[in-house]
Amino acid sequence: MRKNELRIVHFEFDNIGELQKEDRELVLAARKASKNAYAPYSKFHVGAAIQLENGEIVNGNNQENSAFTSGLCAERTALFYANANFPNVAVKRIAVTAENSSGLVLDPVKPCGSCRQAMIETETRFHKPIRIILDGDDKILVFEGVDSLLPFAFKPDSLD
Ligand code: THU
Repeated sequence: MRKNELRIVHFEFDNIGELQKEDRELVLAARKASKNAYAPYSKFHVGAAIQLENGEIVNGNNQENSAFTSGLCAERTALFYANANFPNVAVKRIAVTAENSSGLVLDPVKPCGSCRQAMIETETRFHKPIRIILDGDDKILVFEGVDSLLPFAFKPDSLD
């Protein structure tokens, strides 16, 4: 028997001004995208912005539905748009933000399990780690690859 310990590294920034330029611009794009969320049920407006390897930036936001389970999170809206329209271009980074009734969430928004799984698929597809920037008013978290958010994931090679 062996006891294994997992070490997950992430970076914490006090505010958007501390981020490197490309991360900061992507967070601003995500904040803008959150304004177009369709979230009449939760009133939780999530925005995601993706920077592709070719520099292109695509956005998404949560799209809710009166049949609740038919809705989709901001991250997957953005990710699927990116993969649908740029099938040969790797995703370089994604920024995610959210507003509740009080404004920008204090604690950074954390992608749900299904969005993490979708990110893993894109990362594996293009053989490139995706940098993940999670926005909040108290702090901003940065992860260098989806493995840090979803360790022990089911991946394409799990089918082998
Ligand atoms: N949501 C996202 O869009 N992304 C997340 O990371 C967490 C949750 C959405 C789904 C739903 O429309 C609303 O936020 C409340 O869960």
